[in-house]
Amino acid sequence: MTTYLSGIQPSGLLHIGNYFGAIRQHIDGQSREGEHFYFIADYHALTTSKDPALLRERVRETTVSYLALGLDPERATLFRQSDVPEVTELTWLLATVTGMGLLERAHSYKDKVAHGVRASVGLFTYPILMAADILAYDSTRVPVGKDQVQHVEMAQDMAGHFNAAYGDVFVRPECLLPSNDKEARVPGLDGEKMSKSYGNDLWIFETGKKLKKAIGRIPTDSRPPEEPKDPSEILAFQFLELFLGSTELSDWRARIEAGGEGAPGYGHMKMRLVEAIEETFAPARKRREELLADPAELDRILERGAQRARERAVATRDRALAACGLREG
Ligand code: ADP
Ligand code: TRP
Repeated sequence: MTTYLSGIQPSGLLHIGNYFGAIRQHIDGQSREGEHFYFIADYHALTTSKDPALLRERVRETTVSYLALGLDPERATLFRQSDVPEVTELTWLLATVTGMGLLERAHSYKDKVAHGVRASVGLFTYPILMAADILAYDSTRVPVGKDQVQHVEMAQDMAGHFNAAYGDVFVRPECLLPSNDKEARVPGLDGEKMSKSYGNDLWIFETGKKLKKAIGRIPTDSRPPEEPKDPSEILAFQFLELFLGSTELSDWRARIEAGGEGAPGYGHMKMRLVEAIEETFAPARKRREELLADPAELDRILERGAQRARERAVATRDRALAACGLREG
């Protein structure tokens, strides 16, 4: 049986990197044979968020966004990480078989500290909690963006160490990356990786003036439209590649490469981009408004999700406790 699992931190508004790198895969994948678990990683968010009211709001916003974008709670189990406290027990068990060296190699920890996040013990041990999330549900496939691959590999290592010490307790998970490299690592408005923590992100549901302003920030140079250019070096074009269909895209590409009279300028590319983003997310934007108006339904969905997820995590926790001698085997 294939079990798909992934999580998203409610540490900010969901951005188009989250959409192309992760959420779209989750939504497209729910029709595949197997089980599907998706959760809001609120324990993880505590490593960067210190505002309780804002965190509550962001959990709700992330849940609503997931549903509005098409996650079907009948087909996939949608839940809040902290509704399954067994993952924190598993985190401890895994911590006891995890070498310091493994965590010290984590790129994400180093990046976050370099970007000013306080280096707490929680931030350092973040990959162990993530491994517990993955292993608690016997997940076999973990659909994520490129930046999370190392974390999934760490979960494989931790499962391997635990199993080597105590027998076959955990199932080995594999990463599932978007087939297209452009989606696996979406650039930010400044050209670096798009991330909530880098302030270079674009909210999926942004519209109107704010959207125009954000797209206006994408850096360009002073070369005139007539000058032939390599489209792959133009950041605004890289965004168009995510949103336009292949026929329209080929046309833009050809005109940029050819230069001359009919070649589009940067302003023109940005205008098309604003339109394309608004069009792509219009139906989801409408569903988001409807869902926000029905908080009781959201609570019901999360409660049902928690029940289903917890059942599985309790079984794994019991198996792990027995294997390492904390309970009768
Ligand atoms: P952020 O870096 O903004 O805090 P998260 O770490 O919460 O985002 O990521 C949630 C999911 O979105 C993960 O699966 C991650 O791989 C994916 N993701 C985040 N940023 C990008 C990006 N720029 N391109 C592609 N996928 C991304
Ligand atoms: N660390 C992931 C991120 O920032 C979120 C996450 C937490 C996750 N636990 C997970 C992703 C388990 C996949 C599986 O994007």
